[in-house]
Amino acid sequence: MKRRDFFNFVGLGLIATSLPVAIAACSPTETAEIDGAETDSADATAAPATEAAARDDGFAEIGTVAELDEAGFLANESFMGEKVVVVRDPANATAVVAMSSVCTHQGCVVDWQGAEFVCPCHQSKFSAEGAVLKGPATEPLAKYEAMVEGDVVLVKVA
Ligand code: FES
Repeated sequence: MKRRDFFNFVGLGLIATSLPVAIAACSPTETAEIDGAETDSADATAAPATEAAARDDGFAEIGTVAELDEAGFLANESFMGEKVVVVRDPANATAVVAMSSVCTHQGCVVDWQGAEFVCPCHQSKFSAEGAVLKGPATEPLAKYEAMVEGDVVLVKVA
């Protein structure tokens, strides 16, 4: 056997033996519970748990007041097709403010740090209302309508 043939043979053998492991590693194994029924996550595309359904007035539930108060914020990166974050309105403790979590500098997703939003990419800072506190960003975060209704937090992105 020539050296080239040997390396081709060994290379094919490595691919053949590692392919099943690679396929298994990429296959979904988590299960999700939707409406009380446990389903394979690969089969949950028809009604993903994170997809909100808008009401006739355009508002959709992004979370509960309990979740907001426990975490200090509500964030959803696929809320009605937008990246949305909700925090308590610092000017009115019973109200909420919602905005895009996309940094206006170059599009990274900002993090809520308890009193302000901080962009992990270039450290721009934004107030709880989305105003720029520190650059390089120069534009405020985009705002959305938000309200509390009963024990749920509603946001309207359109
Ligand atoms: S992307 Fe946010 S500061 Fe640059």
